[in-house]
Amino acid sequence: MAKIYSKITGTGGYLPTKKLSNYDLEKIVETSHQWIVDRTGIRNRHIAEDNQSTSDLGLYASEEAIKNAGLKNNDIDLIIVATTTPDQVFPSTACLLQQKLKINNNCPAFDVQAVCSGFVYALSVADSFIKTKSAKNALVVGAETLSRIVNWHDRTTCVLFGDGAGAVVLSASEKPGILSTHLHANGSYAELLQVQGGIGNKDSDNNHQFIEMKGNEVFKMAVNTLGKIADETLKKHNMQKEDIDWLVPHQANLRIINATAKKLRLDPEKVIITVQEQGNTSSASVPLALHTGVSDGRIKEGETILLEAFGGGFTWGSALLKL
Ligand code: ACO
Repeated sequence: MAKIYSKITGTGGYLPTKKLSNYDLEKIVETSHQWIVDRTGIRNRHIAEDNQSTSDLGLYASEEAIKNAGLKNNDIDLIIVATTTPDQVFPSTACLLQQKLKINNNCPAFDVQAVCSGFVYALSVADSFIKTKSAKNALVVGAETLSRIVNWHDRTTCVLFGDGAGAVVLSASEKPGILSTHLHANGSYAELLQVQGGIGNKDSDNNHQFIEMKGNEVFKMAVNTLGKIADETLKKHNMQKEDIDWLVPHQANLRIINATAKKLRLDPEKVIITVQEQGNTSSASVPLALHTGVSDGRIKEGETILLEAFGGGFTWGSALLKL
């Protein structure tokens, strides 16, 4: 019997229309357009309207991904949403999205929380469902309204983040698609990047509902770890750096992306970069970047793509795939 792979058959993305530029931020905190561009590469980020929730952003991205896969909503038989900013404590954002997509086939739907690595984690779970024949057409979404957990008085973090959603449909295929996924976490670094408050934490107060980050330490760990995960992924397949056609990295900071590309000896032209106009959209950043590269025609069928991400936890991971 032919081996079953999971293959990306459709991508989608959505960014709220409201934009917040570095110049807008100059009016909110003591910062400058030039400082933000020099340290991060970011120029703009998108911010959800007050009446838009994470599942609303996910809905637009999902509809586009399902359409691009040539499917109907009810063909989806698994929904996984990676998010750190769920609409509600429960039901999961995936269940709310299922309702908004009017999917009425009782397919499983659940959320995955691994902050900026969430999409790679969710993709890995969906890949396992498909390979074990528990699903045929999985909808995998990364969606965030990060602006809701940003402290707009803290210039060290508020300039970095944005809202958005990206989605893929992963379908069972006899042709190679996802070649491998690699997931890691080390909770001993929790304090370097966190939102302390939480429903299950009685000690948390209103001062701890926002992102707190020791940026410099996160930066060093991110560069180091992303280089290592790329090596781990290539080693598994006896592949050389030159065998990668495209790097689709988590979009946290242009300097982190450039450092990773340099380690991989990748021509900057072979890296999909969206951070300048989107900021860090956490779990949405990798699928949004992938969608950008696919929809503008740069990434072509049959090419080899390395996805990688690093985020709070710390969590990190990669996926090597053929489109
Ligand atoms: N505007 C102007 N000055 C600022 C700003 C700002 N927005 N933010 C900080 N500064 C100041 C600091 O106060 C500091 O001033 P001082 O020297 O007088 O103390 C100076 O700039 C340098 O600060 P650093 O923190 O050392 O700046 P750095 O070069 O490290 O850049 C940054 C900060 C951009 C946050 C960087 O560390 C970074 O990108 N870190 C990684 C973030 C990341 O990758 N996160 C990934 C995961 S996110 C997730 O999982 C949700």
